Order: sequence, then structure tokens, then C-alpha cells
Amino acid sequence: MGAATPAATSVLDALRRTEFARLDEGAHVYLDYTGGGLYAECQLREHMQLLMGGVFGNPHSINPSSAASTKLVERARAYVLRFFNALPEEYVAIFTPNATGALRLVGEAYPFHAGDRFLLTFDNHNSVNGIREFARARGAHTTYVPSVTPDLRVDEDLLPRYLSDTIGNHHNLLAYPAQSNFSGVQHPLEWIERAQSHGWDVLLDAAAFVPTNRLDLSVWHPDFVAVSFYKMCGWPTGVGCLLARREALAKLERPWFSGGTIVAAFVQREYYQSAPGAAHFEDGTVNYLNLPAVEIGLRLLDGIGMETIHARVSDLGTRVLDSLAALTHSDGSPAAAIYGPRSWERRGATIAFNFLHPDGEVVDERYVDRVAAEHNISLRTGCFCNPGAGEVAFTISRETLLGGEFGEGMTLDDYVRAIGLHSGGAIRASLGLASNPADVESFGRFAAEFIDLAGVPDDLPPRQTC
Ligand SMILES: Cc1ncc(COP(=O)(O)O)c(C=O)c1O
Repeated sequence: MGAATPAATSVLDALRRTEFARLDEGAHVYLDYTGGGLYAECQLREHMQLLMGGVFGNPHSINPSSAASTKLVERARAYVLRFFNALPEEYVAIFTPNATGALRLVGEAYPFHAGDRFLLTFDNHNSVNGIREFARARGAHTTYVPSVTPDLRVDEDLLPRYLSDTIGNHHNLLAYPAQSNFSGVQHPLEWIERAQSHGWDVLLDAAAFVPTNRLDLSVWHPDFVAVSFYKMCGWPTGVGCLLARREALAKLERPWFSGGTIVAAFVQREYYQSAPGAAHFEDGTVNYLNLPAVEIGLRLLDGIGMETIHARVSDLGTRVLDSLAALTHSDGSPAAAIYGPRSWERRGATIAFNFLHPDGEVVDERYVDRVAAEHNISLRTGCFCNPGAGEVAFTISRETLLGGEFGEGMTLDDYVRAIGLHSGGAIRASLGLASNPADVESFGRFAAEFIDLAGVPDDLPPRQTC
């Protein structure tokens, strides 16, 4: 998608003034939308009015206050399906605490057995990487598909070889992100059908994609989709969703039951009967007071239009990329290195980079954090829970990783030193629906501080996590 005309996105300028006024009142420059979206004030007002105007009890009952909650929960569920254009005959929306909860549901219940395959891209969030532990525990084989520098995409010629490597009568699960939370790369949704035609079930991690891109489940038919709603509309936190094709859901074997997931369970008979559909996968009491806010938030996105949001972040993201590419020291050497695509093609508004000293060394990301805080800029540093993308971006080989022991009692800094790295990761700037040109200009002023920077102070704090 090309840059938007100002008229097309003027609705977002108005919203920024009215619904996100707290950003400019506090001189905040928020550039961490891949970490968490921001809510519009009207979402809170509508949600609070709804809560203040009713009596809502635990939905696991039939009394009037319980029925009122059930009605809202089911309305939210129906809205989520509608938002993603998912037919209720084809898809079920299962509420979870977050995208991680959705991914875990699939990982722990996917019927992995010896000889089965779990295929995933290097470029994945740790909440997808963690599924390999479920696969391994049940004897399935895990294979990682590498990304290739400099764009950090998967070699499209190589992928078919991985996809055709299945054995009949086995369960095969492919997991990849629709958009990288590290580099912003948008991996092709065309892989879904291609993989399915080779006998793979497809788990699409859409957590970083859906806040600024339309995911139309009448066009694409992944077996499982994981999202977190706070990333899409800022409020509420604590609610995510697994969208699952009914056919694929029927394959899952839950390792336990709990309150809410069964029609009945017996103690003396040690038997239980599962609840049908989504309920079988929703452990305990769903977040019933926050679920109405999901509908409120998604309605806001629908009202603005995902295409408008997409156009806005494409325009602003192009400017951020261009400003980083043009950032040079007085001697003409580059002052920033971008990890991922430099052009606005098949990428989203998540931009990973590092600042460089004039001698080409990476500027310590902890110092970047410090300067960003002085500018009241919220961005992210580290590896963003996506170690595979980082390993490729920083050309860290398996041998290098094996060369340093990450033993008990060691800190991340000890390990970074042990394997000879000069930095603990990258910087990530990400844009969202409330981003505006002034944010990009502030980012440019902040970036200019790194021009001709020869060194950093030696009082930087220890690294806690990557
Ligand atoms: C691509 C991707 N997947 C999964 C997650 C995990 O989301 P959550 O922490 O909401 O479970 C994130 C969070 O940043 C993400 O960006």
C-alpha cells in the first residue's frame, strides 16, 4: 500500500486531538505500538457507562445478572468473528488471557506424536518458540526455517522443500507470524493454503499484524490464529483470542479439564464430559467484565477503517525508514543500521535498527534507552522476545551460541560478553493508529543526537532480559 493522502487519514488527526489528547498534554512520543496499543478515551467512557448501568454476575449460571454477562460475552464473541470476517460455521472464537494463552492452547493440545512435525520460522515470538517444548516432549520433530539477511524474509525457493517434507498419517503443524514483531516483515499469507495442501495445519500468529492490517478470514483460512486485543485497541488488557477452524479444533486433545470447560465431571467415576465448542477451551471464568470492551474497541477500529489505519502507518513508517537510512555522521558514514526491509513492500510499521558510532560499532542499546527517556519517547530495546530474528539480524551463528555457557547464576550481560557480542539487541520503533507526523519529527530530532557520537558513558544499568 502506498502513502496515504492527508485527507484519507485526517480522521486520525482529529482523533489524536480529541481521544488521545493525553499524549500531547504530557509531551509523550509513543513508539511502542507493537508492545501495546493505546486506547481512545471514548472506549473507556463507553465501557464504564456500560458497567455502571448494569449488574453483571459470573456467567457460569442462569440467574439474571449472569444472563446479562453471558449476553455481553456472546455479543463480543460474535463481533470478533465479524471483525475478522470469519463465518461462524467455519471458525470459533475462544477467549484467552492474551495471544500467548491462545498459542499455548494449541501447543499443549495439538496431537503431537513420535514422527510428527512442528515447522516454524526462525522469526517467531517466544510464545510460539515455546510450543517446541510440547512437541519435543511428545517425540515430534521440530524444524526451523531460516530467515535471510538483509531483509530477514524466508527464502521462498526453500520453503516448498520444507513443506513437502511430511510423512502420511502424521500430524504436521506450521507456525509463523503474519508480521514479525522484530523486523516488521509480513510473511506471505499465501503460505497458509500452500502448507495445507501438503497436509500441514497452520498456526498463524497474527498478534503484531492485526493492529494495523486487515485479516480477512473469508479470504485466508489458517487453522489457528492468535491475537491479543490490547495490541489492537489498547483496552482492555488481559484478553486475547484463539480463532480456530472448527475442523482443526476437533483435532485438539486438551490435557486437562477445569471449571467452565465441561458439561459435567464426576469424582467417584473419574469421568468428565467436555463442553462443546469454545467453552471446552476457556478455562475457569472468562474475563466477562472486560470482554464488552473488546467489542467497543473493535467497533472503533471498524469505524475508522483498517485501511485508513494501514495507510497512516505506511506513510509514517516510510518516513521513519527514510530518516534512518539518511542518518549519517559528518564523515559520511552511516549512523544507523536497519534490520529488515528498507522499502515499504510487504512490511508493517515495526522498525528494528541500531544506531552506529562513526567507527561502525553499535551504540549500546541501554544508552539509547536513556536518550529516548530524556525525549519522553517510549520505544523498545532488546530482542523483543524474538531471538531467532535477532540471531539472523546480528549474524550470530549456532556455534557462537554454543560457545558460551549460559549457566546458573549468570546474568544476560555475562552471556553477551561470553559470546563476544557488542550489544544486547536492537531498537524497535513501532507505529499505530494514534501516531502522527509530529511523532516522526520528534523521532528524527532524537535520532540526530546519535550523529558523531563517539562513545557512551560507563554507568549503564545491567541488562535484565533480552
Ligand atoms: C508476534 C507476537 N506474538 C505473540 C506475542 C505475545 O503477545 P502477548 O504477550 O499479548 O501474549 C507478541 C507480543 O508482543 C507478538 O508481538
